[in-house]
Amino acid sequence: LATLEQNFETIWQETSRELTEAVKRGRHPWHLMTLATISPTGLPQARTVVLRRFESSLPALFFHTDYRSPKVQELRESAGKAQLLLYSPESKRQLRCDVTINLHHEDALTRTKWDEARDSSRRCYLVNPAPSANLTERSNTLPETWQKTVPTKEEAASGYPNFTVAECRIHRADILQLNAQGGERCALEFSNDGTIQSAEWLAP
Ligand SMILES: Cc1cc2nc3c(=O)[nH]c(=O)nc-3n(C[C@H](O)[C@H](O)[C@H](O)COP(=O)(O)O)c2cc1C
Repeated sequence: LATLEQNFETIWQETSRELTEAVKRGRHPWHLMTLATISPTGLPQARTVVLRRFESSLPALFFHTDYRSPKVQELRESAGKAQLLLYSPESKRQLRCDVTINLHHEDALTRTKWDEARDSSRRCYLVNPAPSANLTERSNTLPETWQKTVPTKEEAASGYPNFTVAECRIHRADILQLNAQGGERCALEFSNDGTIQSAEWLAP
């Protein structure tokens, strides 16, 4: 029977271990997260992003995105308020994080992550027009040259200004563990120094 651990600290340790594993293993169900933002007209906007990094000391989840995309504009207009949703059918655990997103753009962190990225990942930032732009015809928006070959780091350099690292600082983590008896659920709130400030059980 899948149950939550003895105390809130251990529940978070266990969840952190799973997040660390999900960064490394592309097929881990938590490798993909649903990011929900709020549009300027107040409507919810959800989409899939890749979990690139987990920093337990903050705690924070990171994904990469295009600076020109609507989600970046939405985050700028909502002071970075967003929610990240992850579910694993393997562990039967859902994680729902209330986050504030710091957008890194042309800073020390984006420089490091750009240098570390694969050529095939850097290529994504060469698309034109910008993600979510209206197209006059069917197209994948990747320049002709890079449809069949992958650009070197030098050739992809013009994509760097579009590259953004989203640092999602977790304020609240809602953890639901499903099991044969229904499930168990708790919510953890974090203080600015990354420690658990308060915790409570919730009805699943
Ligand atoms: C499996 C999968 C992984 C994706 N990963 C990312 C990602 O890491 N970053 C990203 O910006 N978009 C990613 N996308 C595309 C987004 O879901 C979305 O379509 C795109 O970013 C435009 O979103 P927006 O118009 O809300 O800004 C991914 C899509 C899929 C299907």
